[in-house]
Amino acid sequence: MTYSLNQSKKNFKCLKNPCLWIGLLFLAACDSGDIYPKEYTHDAGITVEATFVFENPNVFPNDYPLIFGVFNDEQPTPLTSVRIIKPKNNNPVNVSIENISAEATSIRLCLTNLGRQPVFVLFEMKIDKNNTDNIVIPESKIDLMTYDRIQKLIFEQYTCVACHQGTVGAGNLLLTAERSYNDLVNKASHKFPNKNRVSPFEINNSFLLDVVTDNTLELTQPHTSFITRNDDFTLLEEWIKNGAK
Ligand code: HEC
Repeated sequence: MTYSLNQSKKNFKCLKNPCLWIGLLFLAACDSGDIYPKEYTHDAGITVEATFVFENPNVFPNDYPLIFGVFNDEQPTPLTSVRIIKPKNNNPVNVSIENISAEATSIRLCLTNLGRQPVFVLFEMKIDKNNTDNIVIPESKIDLMTYDRIQKLIFEQYTCVACHQGTVGAGNLLLTAERSYNDLVNKASHKFPNKNRVSPFEINNSFLLDVVTDNTLELTQPHTSFITRNDDFTLLEEWIKNGAK
């Protein structure tokens, strides 16, 4: 599958501006060389091409658009981006972006929110300011099911950490980055000690899933409305089925 986006179409619009035409005539009249106004040549930037192979495609995101984009570190949204949809048969995905603006400082493959801001970065590369060569990123494997994604998109994004932090945490559970894994995997629940919070490979024996999905569970703090996206329920379930690594 190949995606590409050409910024020059967008840049072409500026030629409709009459001031630019006057500038162009002036340049053509008194300069023997380049007849393009400066803004035009400036934006005729480099091309970046990449190939990605997605591991664990069962957690390919749907609710969070997956994009390949160029960013300026001072702006939250990409300067230019292409959306990547789930490839058939897990084929490698080729992406390219042409005419990258000189303002670009990095290239990212990331999950975004609906406001096009990255919420989880899968791959990142800085663009050197002085670089004038096209960039080719060789075929790279991208694991979609990392514990870091669970930590950031679930425990931090849904602010579980607000209650599950400190020295003990609500329900005797800490969900901070340094502690969450050890507090969950193969650890007995505080409330129902006959069940583990997470039992690798066993979704029916993982109290964490009951807590966030079962609204008949009697907890002093109901939890079933915290997680709102299907992608995140799928991620938790598939992670446990896959051995909770
Ligand atoms: C507003 C505070 C609050 C937030 C936010 C919160 N929790 Fe809790 N959590 C609690 C309390 C209080 C308990 C103990 C409930 C009980 O024992 O009846 C608990 C219990 C738990 C338990 C069971 C612990 C055990 O071993 O018995 C799990 C698992 C859990 N929370 C996960 C989460 C996750 C995941 C999130 C975010 C999606 C989250 N919590 C957000 C307050 C919170």
